[in-house]
Amino acid sequence: MSTRIPKIQHLLASVLQSKMRAVHANIGAIMLRYEQRKTLRIATSRGLPSEVHDQAEVRLGEGVAGKVAELGDAVIVDDIEKDARFAKTNDPKYGTGSFICMPVRVGDRIIGVINLAKKEDASTTPPTPRPFSPTDLQFLSALLTYIGYAVDNARLLQEAQESAAKVQVVVDDLRATQAQLVRGETLSAIGKLASGMAHHLNNLFAVILGRIETLRTKVAEPEAQRYLEIVQRAALDGAEVVRRVQRFSRVQPVSRTMPVDLNQLAQEVLELTRPRWHNEALLRQIRIDTALDLGNIRRVAGEYAPLREVLLNLVLNAIDAMPDGGQLGVRTWADSEGVHCDVSDAGTGMSDEVRQRALDPFFTTKGPKSTGLGLSVTYGIIQRHNGKLEIDSAPGRGTTVRITLPAVEVAVPAPNRPVTMPLLPSDLRVLLVDDEPEVRGALADMIGISGHTAFQAAGGKEALAWLDAGQPVDLVLTDLGMPGMTGADVARAVRARWPQVRLGLMTGWDETEGLVNDTSAIVDFVIVKPFNLQALLSAYAAGPKAA
Ligand SMILES: Nc1ncnc2c1ncn2[C@@H]1O[C@H](COP(=O)(O)OP(=O)(O)OP(=O)(O)O)[C@@H](O)[C@H]1O
Ligand SMILES: [Mg+2]
Repeated sequence: MSTRIPKIQHLLASVLQSKMRAVHANIGAIMLRYEQRKTLRIATSRGLPSEVHDQAEVRLGEGVAGKVAELGDAVIVDDIEKDARFAKTNDPKYGTGSFICMPVRVGDRIIGVINLAKKEDASTTPPTPRPFSPTDLQFLSALLTYIGYAVDNARLLQEAQESAAKVQVVVDDLRATQAQLVRGETLSAIGKLASGMAHHLNNLFAVILGRIETLRTKVAEPEAQRYLEIVQRAALDGAEVVRRVQRFSRVQPVSRTMPVDLNQLAQEVLELTRPRWHNEALLRQIRIDTALDLGNIRRVAGEYAPLREVLLNLVLNAIDAMPDGGQLGVRTWADSEGVHCDVSDAGTGMSDEVRQRALDPFFTTKGPKSTGLGLSVTYGIIQRHNGKLEIDSAPGRGTTVRITLPAVEVAVPAPNRPVTMPLLPSDLRVLLVDDEPEVRGALADMIGISGHTAFQAAGGKEALAWLDAGQPVDLVLTDLGMPGMTGADVARAVRARWPQVRLGLMTGWDETEGLVNDTSAIVDFVIVKPFNLQALLSAYAAGPKAA
């Protein structure tokens, strides 16, 4: 109680003290009514043993104080010991001597009582009672009116403060919800933008990369090679940006989950980033220590690659935040809520403003070399996994980003897939089906280098006609979104009539996931544009999909 109503407590304590002094009482207590429980409880006391203070709770209408609080008539007793009313009551024990219990009123409401007692004078034999005098009574009743209002005001004030605090909580909640809504809106707006844009950009990058790859085999001059390499890298970076936007703006929940071990993931990510936190740090003559604290956790239900990207983004941010070195910590543990993973750094930390905007797409404080997509991608991935992401950060104190993911129901051992490097094919005959001549041409030329052959078809009909004519083809590589026959139609037709021909599906990203999933069931592999020759050959070499 005392922590909840400090103000009333102080007020009452000083009121009690002054009243006691005025009437020479040695024991005193102010009791307040608790309407819900229909009781009186001591709000402040002096001279009472603390156990009496803490326990005393009197039902309204019972005992001396309970009756006074209910009926409003003061009770004055010359000697408690001799008064029948104190014989069997719950009233706090005020020892021997004279006693007074008066109601404390606010208008016609009784809000509590004040109890005062005077000990007998022990110096005489027998000890003489020291009753309250008539002036004591007058004095007290005059003051009690004032106490009532003071107490009531304090109570009102406190209630007002409590409601203000409650309002603040509601406002904070609203603000957080609003921020989340805005973020959701931003994400879905960017999602729409991304799907429209990605198709075009990916096709453009496919043209650029295809052409560069071809050119690089034709140009001998070292300087030209170097320029081509720069352009190629820029185009690859551009394609990566598009992919990142696509990834975070994809709002569907993860479809095919598998049990993912966050502990394994954390170790893998620290290994992957070792060049950044170890080698590079050494070069810059700083030291970044890693502290891995892996708990006993269940696997989470998720997709491996996106979750690895989550940890990768968080670890890279942590490293970026420690330009002078420091400790990078990754901790995992589990509780009833799920599996948690903290990535923490002892770095610069974030100001309130940065923390609030950190999840916004393209928000970065790191200048043009950064896209500002790391955390928004991360946030999107965690959302799709039905997880939670929290940022705890303050300038100078460092940052901890915590992700929480639902654990899988039963522990399932992760499949132990052997990693084999398939032999890349040579002399591949590829039938390229794409309605966009620029893209088709660039891809055909890219395939045409290093001994492979590409035939081009502008659509499904043309492709089937080519196969009908008995032209030898190892692989039909078809675009998905085409007017007339779609890639899915092409795939079905080829599967039905030329089962020995391998099928690959190229997709931009704007295709609906369902369509890609349906078609991917028919084809041997799906490859996302833009891609390079190496990626295509590897996908082909992975072999036909088992039916
Ligand atoms: N661990 C951290 N410590 C301090 N600031 C951080 C931390 N993580 C993120 N931030 C702040 O949030 C901003 C956004 O982070 P985010 O990962 O989205 O983008 P980025 O790191 O700037 O760029 P990108 O990840 O695309 O390379 C950062 O620029 C930085 O200001
Ligand atoms: Mg980042």
